[in-house]
Amino acid sequence: MVKVITYGTYDLLHYGHIRLLERAKALGDYLIVGVTADDFDKSRGKLNVQQSLMERVLAVQATGIADEIIVEEYEGQKIDDIQRYNVDIFTVGSDWVGTFDYLNEYCKVVYLDRTQGISSSEIRAKENTRFGVVGYSNMARKFVAECNFVNGVSATDIFAPEGCDEDELRSNGLNICHSYDELLDNVEAIYVISAPDKHYEQVKLALSRGKHVICESPISLSAEQTKELLTIAAENKCVLYEGIKTAYATAFSRLIAIAKSGAVGDIKSVEATCTSLRTEEEIEKGEVLGALDEWGPIAMLPVLELLGTEYTSKELITFKNEKSGLDTFTKVNFRYPQAVASIKVGVGVKSEGELIISGTKGYIYVPAPWWKTEYFETRFENAEANRRYFYSLEGEGIRYEISAFMRAMKNLPNLYVSRKVSVAISTVFEDFHAGRDVVCM
Ligand code: CTP
Repeated sequence: MVKVITYGTYDLLHYGHIRLLERAKALGDYLIVGVTADDFDKSRGKLNVQQSLMERVLAVQATGIADEIIVEEYEGQKIDDIQRYNVDIFTVGSDWVGTFDYLNEYCKVVYLDRTQGISSSEIRAKENTRFGVVGYSNMARKFVAECNFVNGVSATDIFAPEGCDEDELRSNGLNICHSYDELLDNVEAIYVISAPDKHYEQVKLALSRGKHVICESPISLSAEQTKELLTIAAENKCVLYEGIKTAYATAFSRLIAIAKSGAVGDIKSVEATCTSLRTEEEIEKGEVLGALDEWGPIAMLPVLELLGTEYTSKELITFKNEKSGLDTFTKVNFRYPQAVASIKVGVGVKSEGELIISGTKGYIYVPAPWWKTEYFETRFENAEANRRYFYSLEGEGIRYEISAFMRAMKNLPNLYVSRKVSVAISTVFEDFHAGRDVVCM
């Protein structure tokens, strides 16, 4: 029996895919189709895959051409599969000519002519969602650039504070709007990176006009306001995403899934550190937000995801810069009925940016900078049981965030940061600004 294997994403299954599968099957007697898992596909720069892995697997199955379907999860898997399944022929479309010649060592490699005039990317690119940017910062620039890596999206307009470099904005292809209303008129979705105290009004207006929103965290500076915004979003069938890019990174979501599955036992402690040392001068000039503003939401994310939002008490210990009044270093301790957590965030203090999740059977270690990690380990008393996990992360996670957001715009229930977590983050900010549970050093 001649065994044939082929791989692909099979997003929005089309005629080109079916012809490829038919010809692949005709090369032998038994066809194995590897459907690429989301993350691995992203690593090749293919983003905004519209269907979930399960939908794509079911679509391939429904063709009735494949004898067996497997999921391609990691780089280097093709060699493993060829050996494991005793494959005689590896085949893909001619868009890959040369790329897989290295597999000739293991089996015959055949490139089949690609069907002209159709591709998943083209189908996806037919739509073009216009994004407006609210605010001006380095992150805003990154966001605009990252839109180029996602099919069907472009950052077209910006509403930026006065005094920003308009020439630079224009050279990035952005139309500068001189009022917020003008921006909302021009776009279907907005990315809000203005000062946190402006978020509430801006997001509320955008949602009330039916615009979808990615808002840098926190969504607002009060729990009630965040709840209200999430409710308006749901009523208006708009997506409101908390812009914590780490939440959308594959390694992070796998880490959370592995920790929740009990791989290291019951979780007793989560410690997350995020710091970036800024100069006194930058802090005094107002170019820097406080430590909690800059890092708090990211650092709180693994705590709230893993231990929940129902902590019994918390304490914020904070060091402030006398002149600017900003916190340069803040430590937040959370107490839960059966666990503890602490985050350390700094803009005036430097530390190791690692994440450690301690459990009754072992711990998960994520090296610095954990918030843009491609790698983590589960570690045990018996070091032979340790495991390493690798994932790729392009563009610091921003492009995954945009891609997830685009999917959510079509299919609402797709939250990476839950409503409860969003409200809990705003609660911590609210308490911090009101001086509740705060110790100033
Ligand atoms: N394929 C093909 N003819 C097409 C499109 C795809 O023969 N018009 C083949 C590819 O070469 C690959 C398989 O179908 O072997 C799965 O392709 P996939 O990458 O999932 O689909 P594309 O339509 O190529 O996706 P994209 O546009 O995102 O590249």
